[in-house]
Amino acid sequence: MRASRAAAAALLLLPLACGGADDRPVITLPGSAVGAEAELLRRQIDRFTKEHPGIRVELQRTPDDATQRHQLYVQRLNARSDDPDILQLDVIWTPEFAAAGWLLPLDRFDADTTAFFRPTVEANVWDDTLYAIPWFVDVGMLYWRTDLLDAPPETMEALVEAARRGKRPAEAVTRGIVWQGARYEGLVTVFLEYLGGFGGEILADDGTVVVDSPEAVEALSFMRDQIHRWDVAPEQVLTWHEEETRFAFQNGTAVMMRNWPYAYALMSGEDSRVAGRFAVAPMPAAPGGEPTVALGGSQLAISAHSDAPEHAWALLEFLTAPEQMLERAVVAGQFPTRPALFDDPALDEVLAIPAERAREIIERATARPVTPIYTQLSEILQIQLHRALVGQAEPADALETAAEGMRRAIEETGVRDLRRREGAR
Ligand code: GLC
Repeated sequence: MRASRAAAAALLLLPLACGGADDRPVITLPGSAVGAEAELLRRQIDRFTKEHPGIRVELQRTPDDATQRHQLYVQRLNARSDDPDILQLDVIWTPEFAAAGWLLPLDRFDADTTAFFRPTVEANVWDDTLYAIPWFVDVGMLYWRTDLLDAPPETMEALVEAARRGKRPAEAVTRGIVWQGARYEGLVTVFLEYLGGFGGEILADDGTVVVDSPEAVEALSFMRDQIHRWDVAPEQVLTWHEEETRFAFQNGTAVMMRNWPYAYALMSGEDSRVAGRFAVAPMPAAPGGEPTVALGGSQLAISAHSDAPEHAWALLEFLTAPEQMLERAVVAGQFPTRPALFDDPALDEVLAIPAERAREIIERATARPVTPIYTQLSEILQIQLHRALVGQAEPADALETAAEGMRRAIEETGVRDLRRREGAR
């Protein structure tokens, strides 16, 4: 009895004695919990640890809702927690986190920033210092059912018409168009696309708030009318994020959907009812506006509180290397941040659109304001957009309130550097 217990104890200790597993520094990395993407990350981390047996990587599940993820990070970083070591940042957060002193400046690692799309690098530079490396780019797209429509709509009017015409209630296609309308960051990106489509902007080139312009009122009214007047978008969108809209479209209940590239790969699989029956197009525009694509995406940064920044950099460099990026595009359909990869024929086969076209779209995508108070401005806007969409306020009043709040926030915080990214429209 005794002997076998001792043998069992020895066995238990064996891995520790052999690999010294307990002594290895641990790098914590928050990641998506969504299917293929989560699996891909695990696979890449396995490869990394084979190359770097001295480092242990711990993947932490985090919410996919951008606003929730932001809150989680802010709590941890405010508490000066050394965990996580690596932060997966939304494209709009870097200036805020950098200005708060939460990110490690990356200049010391000598990354070649010229290898990435310029707007994605500019979003990660604050005060002339690089704070994060672009990981994948998101661009907003209009998904449409090729078996229900002959062509994607090119004008706003045609969008409503197509949404109406494409519905087939007898076949459970009861929704004309679905989008992210919950009160969170996603709503701002959807609004940005309608806004540009009607010829409006959030901030003018000189940084003044112009989100209460007549074009903006038109854009927001158009979104509201889809729900309450023309009955082409279901009221449910007012609580929906990316995944709820994807489920609705993937289950075959919607004619069109606004979403990011990640949905393309997931909806092409076996459990999708629309596999082989959908395509993507740019969002349409009204006369006076331009088809507008919101620029999104993820960046990797190192926490200023990390106790193993060199190891964290090794992992960050590995995850953003061409090989891993290409694999991410193939497996998860997410667009690389390195323009050179768009010349790779492998990309053409897996992306939602031809690689060359994807590159053009990324280069012309519309960025959200690059400022440390972005989250504050966005929250003000989210509240008012949502009030108008649920019918608690008229679009003009809601946008006027939003614009006043945003102007006040800019005054109070003294943040003047609200220049829009060069090259972005
Ligand atoms: C995606 C985009 C991100 C955006 C978010 C909104 O994650 O990459 O930039 O803020 O969606 O929901």
